[in-house]
Amino acid sequence: MHATWGGMGVQVSQGFGLVWPGKQSRSGEIPAPEGQLVAYPAESYCPECADGNRILEGDNLPILRALQSELSGAVGLIYIDPPYNTGNDFIYNDNFRNPRQRQTAEEPGRRHTRWLEMMHPRIELARTLLRADALFCVSIDDHEVHHLRLLLDEVFGEENFVAQLIWKRHSGGGNDARHFAVDHEYILVYARDRGSLPPLRLPLDAAQRSAYIHRDEHFDSWGPYKTKSFLRMRPDDPRPGLQYGIELPNGDTRLAEWKWEESRFHEGVREGRIVFRQDRKERWLVEYKLYLRDDNSERTQVPRTLLLDVERNAAGKSQLKALFDGAIPFPNPKPVGLIRLLLQLHPDRDRLVLDFFAGSGTTGQAVLEENASDGGSRRFVLVQEAQPTGCPNIPSLSALTRERVRRWMIRTQTESGFLAARWECGGHNHAPTDAEGELG
Ligand SMILES: C[S@@+](CC[C@H](N)C(=O)[O-])C[C@H]1O[C@@H](n2cnc3c(N)ncnc32)[C@H](O)[C@@H]1O
Repeated sequence: MHATWGGMGVQVSQGFGLVWPGKQSRSGEIPAPEGQLVAYPAESYCPECADGNRILEGDNLPILRALQSELSGAVGLIYIDPPYNTGNDFIYNDNFRNPRQRQTAEEPGRRHTRWLEMMHPRIELARTLLRADALFCVSIDDHEVHHLRLLLDEVFGEENFVAQLIWKRHSGGGNDARHFAVDHEYILVYARDRGSLPPLRLPLDAAQRSAYIHRDEHFDSWGPYKTKSFLRMRPDDPRPGLQYGIELPNGDTRLAEWKWEESRFHEGVREGRIVFRQDRKERWLVEYKLYLRDDNSERTQVPRTLLLDVERNAAGKSQLKALFDGAIPFPNPKPVGLIRLLLQLHPDRDRLVLDFFAGSGTTGQAVLEENASDGGSRRFVLVQEAQPTGCPNIPSLSALTRERVRRWMIRTQTESGFLAARWECGGHNHAPTDAEGELG
């Protein structure tokens, strides 16, 4: 074993993977938790139209364990944004140092193992909730991305890794950085079973759509079209079957390698799909029409791993501000657009979406916005512990989650609601978290 950081490291002698002292696979042995989810009607919103939407208050570990019986194999997407272990004290715990050792030197690596101990059983439990064609997406930054990736390889299997997305979260700033201004963070994407995952696609963006400017007699069925060169520009991969002469409107014949076979070209001419056009120097060009709708569905694009033009952190703050009269009751909420992008990837618009580090409830708003935009009927389950905020109007983070979603539903007059429930255990309204780091 190559051991580093006080016993934490990558094991190579008996298989390959992440090890740390005391590591064990826990999900199988986590006993049914003492306690139960109890309905919280006073905090529900429009329960008769909840249609599966739920906001659950409490530590996500016993709640995930309790959801096993009901939701095993039923969740289509899990998105989580756990504490990144930055060492900062936010309104929620993001520091997995041992509070008792704060004044003394803590064994190097211990805070990483404490964070992994928190994440490991939750990820194991979460995986069992996923459908075969489901995605698991987790936001993370440089503090733990390397450990989390190894952990996810272990829990999901390396073969189920789909992508490591790089999201540009800031634009500008950071000019006081001593070395680098870190502009990005990551979203790790895993499949429950990559073989069952359908192709992932995204809608065209506004700039791509705006290129479809022409109309013809097929407009009602296929929408507007744009034209593209009919020349095949692949000198590295010549195809003799695509080489033939095309007669141009001026009577000349142009011999080249074209995109379609000759018989299909003639069919295209008969159907009005081939366009002859002169460029500025009056040379004849051969082009074909590409319609916005293809096979009755709109064209899509292959998602890229670099998310440079997606909404950034500042958008997340202003979206939350807009719902809370200018105040930001939560640090660094994710922008709705980022989570909507994850929802758009998968063709199924009716999935159950789970976020068990729900924070301000951005995932709930993203589900509602995406449904409103594409007519889907996705539902959400959000889990957030009742971390006190010190704010009289919104006394806990779980109250914030509910209030944000409730305000969004009222603002948009959506016909949706949610059921609220809380974890009740031994007279407390939530079980103590097993992440023992300092609370901010
Ligand atoms: C980084 S924030 C998530 C922010 C969220 N994505 C948003 O846009 O608002 C992490 C959240 O997880 C919550 N959390 C941390 N540990 C938890 C636990 N064991 N159970 C439930 N929630 C927890 C924290 O209170 C915090 O609200």
